[in-house]
Order: sequence, then structure tokens, then C-alpha cells
Amino acid sequence: MSLLAILTYPNRFLLQVTRPVDNIDGQLQQLIEDMAETMYAAPGVGLAANQVGSSRRILVFDEMSDAEKRQFQVIVNPKLIESDGELISENEGCLSVPEFRSDVRRAARVLVEGVDREGNPLRMEAEGFRAVVLQHEIDHLDGKLFIDRISSLKRQLYKRRVKKQQKIA
Ligand code: NI
Repeated sequence: MSLLAILTYPNRFLLQVTRPVDNIDGQLQQLIEDMAETMYAAPGVGLAANQVGSSRRILVFDEMSDAEKRQFQVIVNPKLIESDGELISENEGCLSVPEFRSDVRRAARVLVEGVDREGNPLRMEAEGFRAVVLQHEIDHLDGKLFIDRISSLKRQLYKRRVKKQQKIA
């Protein structure tokens, strides 16, 4: 297993929509293992493949973040089928948007379909924090970051800060 580099804003790769997986082979299993390892090391509760430079439609997550019993979940080709209700995801953050957090309005409940890493159909109903994680990661796979879902004023503040830091570096 190896740790993968996490791309950060404003890397344009993060804005690309990922491609569905049509063949789950050994290479893909390796990518999944590496994504999980990278997520735990960060540490984070979820990771989308395009955050580590792969254009495949895969996400991993483990919202429990329990170092003792790591049991991450994988969804290949996840699709948001239904969303319902509303909640405020407080202080949401992202490994690809370092040193920034914001409240984000999200659906309270979601239904996601996809396949598991063996290629079997998977259907997941989630609410609360797990629903937030799934929406956040599926957004990634669609080329969206959580800062696309906050007020433009807040987003501009963040973008300006990044630009300033780039000038200094
Ligand atoms: Ni993220």
C-alpha cells in the first residue's frame, strides 16, 4: 500500500467530472486500498478518486474514524438517486481545501446507488453526517468542491487568501 498525494485547490483536476468504472481489476483494487490508506493518514472521513489524481468514479469513506477498527466503505460509480430534507453541515472541511471551513447547506437524507468493490449492486440510504459525507464525495466526483456551495462572498475571501499565499510561496 502506498500513500497518494492529495491535490488541493486551485488544481484544475479537481474540477473535472470523473468517468464511470466499467472494469474492476487488480489495479483498481490497489487504487481503492491506497485511497483508504491516504484517507486515514490525512486524516479524513472520505476521499474521492480525483482528489488523488485518478479520473475514475470511486469514493471511500469511514465516518467513524476509529483508529482501532478501521472499516472503510467503497462505492464505485456512486449516483445520488434521491435527496430529501435539509440540514446545515457545520464547519465542513475538505482535504483538498486546506485551512478553511464553512457551514454548508445539505440534504438531510440521501439514497445512493452504485456497486461495491466486487461489482455487486449497492444501495445505501443515509442520514445526518453520513449523508453529508456522501454528498461531499459525490460532489467531488462531479467536479465540485464544498466552496462551490457557500456564499460567493465567503468563497471570494478564501480564493483571495489562496492567491496571496501563492504569491508568498
Ligand atoms: Ni473533500
